[in-house]
Amino acid sequence: MSAFHSVVHRAKQKRYSFLMKQTILSGSTVTGNLTLGNYIGAIQNWKKMQNDYDCLYFLADLHALTVSQDPKVLRERTYSFFAQYLALGLDPQKNIIFAQSHIHQHTELSWVLTCLTPLGFLNRMTQFKEKAEKNEKNVNAGLYTYPILMASDILLYQADLVPVGEDQRQHLELCRDLVGFFNNRYGAGILKMPQAFVSKMGARIMSLQDPTKKMSKSDENEKNFVSIIDDEKKIEKKIKAAATDSGTEIKYDVDNKAGVSNLLTIYSTLSERPIADLEKEYEGKMYGHLKVDLAEVVIQTLRPVKAKHDELMRDRAYLDKLLNAGAERAQARAQKTIASVYEAVGLLPRQLF
Ligand code: TYM
Repeated sequence: MSAFHSVVHRAKQKRYSFLMKQTILSGSTVTGNLTLGNYIGAIQNWKKMQNDYDCLYFLADLHALTVSQDPKVLRERTYSFFAQYLALGLDPQKNIIFAQSHIHQHTELSWVLTCLTPLGFLNRMTQFKEKAEKNEKNVNAGLYTYPILMASDILLYQADLVPVGEDQRQHLELCRDLVGFFNNRYGAGILKMPQAFVSKMGARIMSLQDPTKKMSKSDENEKNFVSIIDDEKKIEKKIKAAATDSGTEIKYDVDNKAGVSNLLTIYSTLSERPIADLEKEYEGKMYGHLKVDLAEVVIQTLRPVKAKHDELMRDRAYLDKLLNAGAERAQARAQKTIASVYEAVGLLPRQLF
């Protein structure tokens, strides 16, 4: 093979290996504080996938508007979430990382899909019911149509897999239904059918004070969660105060020992040690021992993350530059999808003279 042909051959191989990589998309709504639950249930998996997949990770800032926001706080939090993504190990070169509001096609696709969504499907969404109960004074239409915007986020980039925690499964099902409706009506293959990727361990980290409830980043009681950027004293205090039970045995048993099981899950996912190993190590020991050691594991994990986050937050120009580069890469892909969707549904392309 001539030198020229071997270069072409290598380029083709590279192109095909890129084409063969499955596309991953996921994101987090920019509300509250990113927690250990978000990290273990989602971001830890995003990080693991970044080497083998074509990944897009975004800041769901438009979704944040479904609850009332102080504009200043929202802006600051968006930078902070982005800095946390980076500090947690998401590489802005390997992945496309961007802010949802920078890509206008999200809301454009959302409108098309809104016009295909039966109200009955939205009425079934358990998260809407929960959030509406919590935000009695602000049950707005955005809160209701939120899962359609979420479907648009996924479908705009033709994602194959969506790594999420357990609580997002129902939204993923709705997204799949919408692909079915769309492709049935306008032709198969325009929107790709995505799949949820929910890991077996850690897909539902529970609240520290009430281990029958999910750890939530918008929880009003700070003691219920560990934030990614909590200081060490806080982490230690929160873990030591975590609810357990009146027994003494350190054993994984979700039905009877929800608190201890939650602590074991956090320990196991962060240290990458099987639960059975931990049960053996803590046989005959007290809950206090487990908590002291777990606090140390969490602190060790999050110490460099907080330091990196704080450093990144001091350089907004750098963060802006990265967000801009991410948006450029995302935009090109989003535009391709929206153009084919608009054409399929019969909207006229704008003629430029
Ligand atoms: P959000 O911001 O609530 O959560 C981000 C991710 O963290 C997961 N998660 C958890 N996993 C385990 N245990 C927990 N206690 C826990 N709490 C949260 C969530 O399942 C999620 O994967 N609607 C989404 C954001 C979004 C999105 C998307 C996600 C908007 N568009 C498109 C994927 C694809 C949300 O509010 O996640």
